[in-house]
Parts: sequence; C-alpha cells; structure tokens
Amino acid sequence: MGGMVESLVRARGLVKRFGSYTAVDGIDVDIEPGESFGFLGPNGAGKSTTMRMVGAVSPPTAGELRILGMDPAVDGPAIRARLGVVPQTDNLDLELTVEENLLVYGRYFGLPRATVRERTAELLDFVQLTDRAKDRVEPLSGGMKRRVTIARALVNEPDVVLLDEPTTGLDPQARHVLWERLYRLKQRGVTLVLTTHYMDEAEQLCDRLVVMDRGRIAAEGSPAGLIAAWSTREVLELRFPVTEGGPSHAAALAPLAARGAVERVEELPDRLLLYTADGDAALSEVLALGLRPLSSLVRRSSLEDVFLRLTGRTLVD
Ligand SMILES: Nc1ncnc2c1ncn2[C@@H]1O[C@H](COP(=O)(O)OP(=O)(O)O)[C@@H](O)[C@H]1O
Ligand SMILES: [Mg+2]
Repeated sequence: MGGMVESLVRARGLVKRFGSYTAVDGIDVDIEPGESFGFLGPNGAGKSTTMRMVGAVSPPTAGELRILGMDPAVDGPAIRARLGVVPQTDNLDLELTVEENLLVYGRYFGLPRATVRERTAELLDFVQLTDRAKDRVEPLSGGMKRRVTIARALVNEPDVVLLDEPTTGLDPQARHVLWERLYRLKQRGVTLVLTTHYMDEAEQLCDRLVVMDRGRIAAEGSPAGLIAAWSTREVLELRFPVTEGGPSHAAALAPLAARGAVERVEELPDRLLLYTADGDAALSEVLALGLRPLSSLVRRSSLEDVFLRLTGRTLVD
C-alpha cells in the first residue's frame, strides 16, 4: 500500500441506532498497529455497541468504518478471521474442558488439528492454566474463565484483540493477574482494543484512549496527556461533618479559588475535591481559613478526575 501503513481501525462519523435510540452517536476513531487503545466510559456509554461494530458482527447504521483495511459490510468473514474477541460476557462451552474449548474454536477457523493442538498447549501455558487443561470449564472461578476466553481469542493468532470489559466483576487479585497477562501480550506487539469503566485499568493498559459518554467521544489522548489537559497535578480530597441546611463547605472555600490557590472545587455527595498544583499548600490554606475537615487526602489526578471534569459525573456510581 505505497509504504503507508493504514490504521487497523478507522471510523468516521460512526453511528449505531436501535430504533429511535442512538447508542453510538457519530464517533471518529483511528487505531494504529501495535498500540493498546481504550474506550473508557460508564455503563451505557456505547462501548459494547462500538466493539460489536469493530468486531464486524453488528453493522453500523451510518458513517464510515474500515477494519484491517477492509469494509465489514463486504469482508466480514475475512476480518473476523484476523480478530481475537473477548466479549463482555464469557460465552465458553461450560460442558467442555478448558482444552476442548480452544480446540473446537481453532477447528472452527479451519486450522489443521496438529496446529490447534500445539497452539492450545502454548496458550494454556501463557494464561497459566496448563494444570486445568482437562478440567470442565463450569466450576472454574470467574478469573480463570476469563483467562480461558482470552486464550481462546488467541487461537487464530489475531492481529488485533478486542477485549470488552476484560476484568469487570473480578476480584482485585484476579484483575491483577489478567492485567499482567495483557501487558505481556502488548509487549509481544499484539494490538489491543479494550473497553473499561475502570480508570485504573485504562491507566495501566492503554497507550491511548477515548473518553466515551452517551454515545459520543468527549476527549482523546494518552492517560498522562488527558490528565495534563483536563485536570491539575494534584487533588486535595476533604471530608466534612454533615451540616444539614447550613452554609456549604464549598462556599466557604471560595476565597481559595479567588486567590488562585485552588483551580476548581468539585462537590461530591461524600466529599469535596480541590483541584490544585500543590495539595499540601492548599490544605494549609484550608486550615488557615479556620475550616476543620474530618479527613484530608492529597493524591495525583486520575482519569476519574478527567471524566468528572468532562461530564460532571463520576465513572462508577
Ligand atoms: N440490541 C440493543 N437494542 C436496544 N438497545 C441497545 C441494544 N444494545 C445496546 N443498547 C443500548 O445502547 C446503549 C449503549 O449500550 P452499550 O453499548 O452496551 O453500553 P456500554 O457497553 O458502554 O455499557 C444502552 O443504553 C443500551 O441499553
Ligand atoms: Mg458494555
């Protein structure tokens, strides 16, 4: 292609409607080879709907979509053969063993039996399930089932792996095991496209991401770039005793904002967030005003702060 590397995924004005409801409302996306790209957004943002279009299993209502340089309306099977898909809900065959799930899937792609056997062994080693190869899938933990689904998605040696909420519903330990495996895949040069509503997952795994809300893209960039563009270096979190009907603590902090010691104050139901370059300095000023918070915490800004700034809402409620 004339030396030009085409984006693996290119979307322009992509729309998906269900009846009169618009789930994806005109998004532009470019995903490049080798990168780890994320869609970060709350439930209902349109992430899964987007992933099904990118997976060439759900036709767009409008807009332009090219996947691996092909048109999904024409080349669906050719596209799907080169994708690895980890859907939001595991759809493993629970009656089969771990190994059989991979073997059946590989045969479905028309791969030779010996090749599938060899890859299955390698992939079960990769997801650390070799010792469970002969076990039925049904009784396995959620984290193990997720690892089987990921191994299965790799059987056809895909160019791109689509992961829809890879760790939702898992306990913290199982999440960390998965993150570590996905990081290894990324290091091997596999292009990852993932959705998540966990800002820490997006920060850990994504080179670049879009913040998605109500079917639209609110911002795009690297995790650090988004934080630099949309938040301050630090955040001072304050909790105050509940004051029914009294003056709000946010109002009492107005002098700090006026003086520029704090850039912005967000009032959440259970705490105040003070956006500032220097959280400790801001805390000194809060105390100098005579305010007495029950607790205070200085932390770095996160993608959660970016989301709050862009949408006025929190990611996980
Ligand atoms: N097949 C469908 N029919 C009707 N509405 C749908 C369908 N799939 C998704 N939706 C709606 O589209 C919106 C976006 O859904 P989804 O893409 O699953 O969001 P997310 O994955 O970000 O949570 C939701 O309001 C959902 O109810
Ligand atoms: Mg979803």
